[in-house]
Amino acid sequence: MVSSLNRDLNRKDGRAKVTGSAHYSAEHPVKDPVYAYLITATIAKGRIRSIDTKAAEKAIGVLAVYTHENAPQAAKPTNNWAASKIYESRLPLSDSQIHYGGQIIGVVVADTFERARDAAHLVNVSYQAESPNIVLNQATFRMAPPNFGEAMAFKIGDVKAGLAQAKTTIEATYTTEMELHAPMEPHAIIADWNGDNAVTIYEHSQWVALSQRTYAELLKIPPANVRIISPFIGGGFGSKAFPWSHSVLCAIVARQIKRPVKLVVSRRQMTANVGHRSQTEQTVKLGLNADRKLCAVEHFAKTATSPIEQFVEPCVLITPVMYASPNLHIDQEITTLNVGVPTFMRAPGENPGMWALESAIDELAWASGIDPIELRSQNQTTVHQRKNLPFSAKFFTDCLTTGARQFSWSDRPTKLRSTDRNGHLIGWGMAAATFPGYRGQASAKVRLLPNGTVLVMTAGNDMGTGAYTVIAQTAAETLGISIDQVRVELGDSFFPDGGIAGGSQMTATLTPAVANACKEVLKVAQAKQFTDAISALQRSGKEFFEAVGSAAPGAETKQYAFNSWGAHFCEVAIDEAIGRLQIKRWLSVMNIGRVMNAKTAASQVRGGVIMGIGQALMEECLLDPKTGLPVIYDLATYHYPVQADIPRIEVTFVGEPDLNFNPMGVRGVGEIGITGVAPAIANAIYHATGKRLRSLPITPDKLIGG
Ligand code: MOS
Repeated sequence: MVSSLNRDLNRKDGRAKVTGSAHYSAEHPVKDPVYAYLITATIAKGRIRSIDTKAAEKAIGVLAVYTHENAPQAAKPTNNWAASKIYESRLPLSDSQIHYGGQIIGVVVADTFERARDAAHLVNVSYQAESPNIVLNQATFRMAPPNFGEAMAFKIGDVKAGLAQAKTTIEATYTTEMELHAPMEPHAIIADWNGDNAVTIYEHSQWVALSQRTYAELLKIPPANVRIISPFIGGGFGSKAFPWSHSVLCAIVARQIKRPVKLVVSRRQMTANVGHRSQTEQTVKLGLNADRKLCAVEHFAKTATSPIEQFVEPCVLITPVMYASPNLHIDQEITTLNVGVPTFMRAPGENPGMWALESAIDELAWASGIDPIELRSQNQTTVHQRKNLPFSAKFFTDCLTTGARQFSWSDRPTKLRSTDRNGHLIGWGMAAATFPGYRGQASAKVRLLPNGTVLVMTAGNDMGTGAYTVIAQTAAETLGISIDQVRVELGDSFFPDGGIAGGSQMTATLTPAVANACKEVLKVAQAKQFTDAISALQRSGKEFFEAVGSAAPGAETKQYAFNSWGAHFCEVAIDEAIGRLQIKRWLSVMNIGRVMNAKTAASQVRGGVIMGIGQALMEECLLDPKTGLPVIYDLATYHYPVQADIPRIEVTFVGEPDLNFNPMGVRGVGEIGITGVAPAIANAIYHATGKRLRSLPITPDKLIGG
């Protein structure tokens, strides 16, 4: 391997981030900005009877107050992914209806943030309230719609017959609570119009090119007149892929105000207004025959959506991808609750799905007396049972065996409650991890400069994952130069469409395009080598040579199925007297194709594991059962792990480049790390205590007592 690939490299953008010179959405300098502050509903269902804005309008510094009675309206977008996509299909302030607690019902614009916020509290609203539906297990369910055109239901054979011939069976129901993305950088936008036909939007966007098309449709202006600037994202996890209602509102209002408008969503407002992961209730039935093979697998799930958007957390789809069975049945139902819009959140579907499935597999392992690693290894599927295609470069067995060796799994006592260390019960648990290998279409522009450096430009972006670094590595590798000679500019819609930073696909999508652009620019220079190209450029007297390169998936998607694989291993110590759980050891072994940069890739896995530990032990957004309003209002009330909760997380990569997938051989690593974390912990708790806990989060109250 050459130069910079397969190495531990520091982040290109690391210094800018730690020194504060990296500009996040609300931090971009604009001339004479004004500030918008949202007014949000204090009921969860009903309608606004009247809304009195007089006092707010008269407050010092206030420029305007908008409600459904006077707000300018955006054009209805097609919302079909190709042309445009917004999270909430109901446009903001379009009528007096309230669908969930915390819904935006107005916005104040003032000359300072404090004055806008102050005036927002002077608005007097009277409601006609109805009793909200917020309880999942009291709801009425309907069939879940297809997920990206794929029906949720899938059936092979006959599960009933399979269970009848099984030697061991288990059936259990697992639940998860509403979870928040809670990124460090709050959701924020600055809309800066030039006249009323062209606008610059400074907003974190996981998909800059789609964001540009979407604002163009909403604002009825040509896409070329919309510029999206999103060089850095302070955490997105799926909640910063498309404009939210506050974004639409800000853009619309700024056109009227005729000054740059800056809108930052408060932490409290973020509880309801920028997405969440739905609660889930999942039932799994498994049957194992005398040959230690699965003869029945059934996985049914129930999730919730909001009245104004139909989003399904597709929990069950991962099950036929993981394990083979001649009798298999998955299906899912949804209901509508008076909650904000649920959306994509790190491994949407795979994450809660693997919580249920990998807990159930562990239950089956104990019930049948088979080691959980062997059970998984024996029952993994070599073909994607739904697509009927073989997996490309699948090294799941290596994840299991390498993990077992590194963790000394064979030393695990096979009895429950068998290890007491200074009054703490010790348990070991493991679970599998997986995530599909997605890839989209992308383009990048590469510019050679006479000083022998290279500039790579694409609208694709880096939400903290390491894209700046792997893009620079790709250019350096392709041109045979040092990574220090490469500068990367991302997240500007003036650059070619770089695809989405989502579905763990940015590296797989963008790096082949960058490699192609590098080859194209050598052609422009009529040179084979970088040094010859630079000489030609210097001779030409031109300022630069540049070229655009693109790449897209092809026929390989008809020949193979692509997934990444992994296994987590952990040790927990539990003090049952006070319900305290500490994670003492963690090992994740991952098979993600080629590892471009071991440092940023391991960081992605660690981030996923930490987020999974939060999900397993702490994270839940609770709603007041009476009012339906979230009782979570900041990063203190929404519990998530801090440094002291997290042990050293060992990460090992196994496998080989997946050259069927793309010329770089890379799959994705952004999301796989969170899958399987919660079941690994619950399985360790069972080993330690003999208690099978099936509802997340596993808070101390669930661990107290022997
Ligand atoms: Mo991710 S949930 O695809 O940002």
